[in-house]
Amino acid sequence: MKVLVIGGGGREHAIVWKLSQSSSVDRIFWTPGNPAAKVAAHVSIPSLNTNDFSALADFAKKEHVDLTVVGPEAPLVAGISEIFQNRGLAIFGPTKAGAQLEGSKVFSKEFFLKHKIPTGRARAFSNYEEALAYSKMQPKPLVLKADGLAAGKGVVICVQQEEVQSHLAQIMKERIFGEAGQKVLIEECLTGTEVSIHAITDGKSYQMLPSVQDHKRVFDHDEGPNTGGMGTYSPAPIFTPALEERVRREVFDRTLTGLREEGVPYCGVLYAGLMLTPEGPKILEYNCRFGDPETQVLMMRLKSDLGQALLAACRGELDRVRLDWSSEAAVCVILAANGYPGPFKKGDVIRGLDAAAARPHSFVFHAGTTVNGRDVVTQGGRVLGVTARGADLREAIRRAYEAADLIQFDGKHCRRDIGSKALN
Ligand code: AMP
Ligand code: GLY
Repeated sequence: MKVLVIGGGGREHAIVWKLSQSSSVDRIFWTPGNPAAKVAAHVSIPSLNTNDFSALADFAKKEHVDLTVVGPEAPLVAGISEIFQNRGLAIFGPTKAGAQLEGSKVFSKEFFLKHKIPTGRARAFSNYEEALAYSKMQPKPLVLKADGLAAGKGVVICVQQEEVQSHLAQIMKERIFGEAGQKVLIEECLTGTEVSIHAITDGKSYQMLPSVQDHKRVFDHDEGPNTGGMGTYSPAPIFTPALEERVRREVFDRTLTGLREEGVPYCGVLYAGLMLTPEGPKILEYNCRFGDPETQVLMMRLKSDLGQALLAACRGELDRVRLDWSSEAAVCVILAANGYPGPFKKGDVIRGLDAAAARPHSFVFHAGTTVNGRDVVTQGGRVLGVTARGADLREAIRRAYEAADLIQFDGKHCRRDIGSKALN
């Protein structure tokens, strides 16, 4: 089959890398792709405007693409899937209605409550004065969430009432996130350990993927501001089979029932951000796509044909395939540009990629890189995801850092403690 993959980050590089190993996949088009990433001879980067969904569908028709896989949330929330489906094209990723689970925090919170999916207490507001009055009566810390997509920056945990007030004003009055801040969710602060649990679904059945833990803060020991994710490991030993069973029953079963009851078709990823609290797992958020850098470790562990599984989901035949996973552990260490998640420099030459690529059991996924003449240079905040497998977590961590240390660029920053909390 021919596959079109949309997106250009580390997550998409991992998806393309895995698809390129699928015996069912003969050709992969990747847009906008990552021009610095060498994948395989049958992977090409066509010149397309990734924001023009009709033009993408025209391309898919003309090239007889059998399956389109959407990496990021923005095109899903903007309705790419219905444009493809209306033209008879198979696309892995939910339509607008399903993508609201990620696209609107107020919608998803109402969905959790209605379908009895365990979650933190919260209230939604569209009026600043009312939000402020409510927040004053709530214990701190308190979590504020802009309703819409805010590039991962829409959630703030406020320790003091003064912070609540200033963030509420920024979101609701100054509109720093634009329309995404029309409504705000004020949520109780949950404590515990976070895990990322993905499922792929065709709306009828689903398959849970192995557990992953992300590291959101930019510095070691979970210090500094939140990022898109500085590194991941899988499996997460804290996510025991008993917890898995509970999440299956209380989160995914109820989500699928809820989607069916509301008449929302859903083909794609349900990625639950869960907090393992003393009272049990509670959902913080749903994402309607694969996590980044969760995908990098998941693809490192996937043994089955990814193309076949995603196509089966698009056809409503997911129950016919079974995903097999390596029992090995995988670790991804993000190499970021100095300054990320704030402003950072671009255009620094990256050295050592070939030496790192030559390391056994590891793979370097490109995220924010591009080509400048003969050089691969930095282009984004999260530059590379150096990923390795090992018989156990300790070995995977050692291999990932051995490869990561071979790569150099000006201002390179990585956390040194990815995965280490699971060793204690
Ligand atoms: P979200 O986009 O809702 O997952 O929020 C981003 C991050 O904010 C999560 O990964 C958590 O670290 C944190 N967070 C969100 N909601 C809560 C909550 N109710 N209590 C504590 N932390 C939260
Ligand atoms: N790593 C977090 C996310 O993809 O949302």
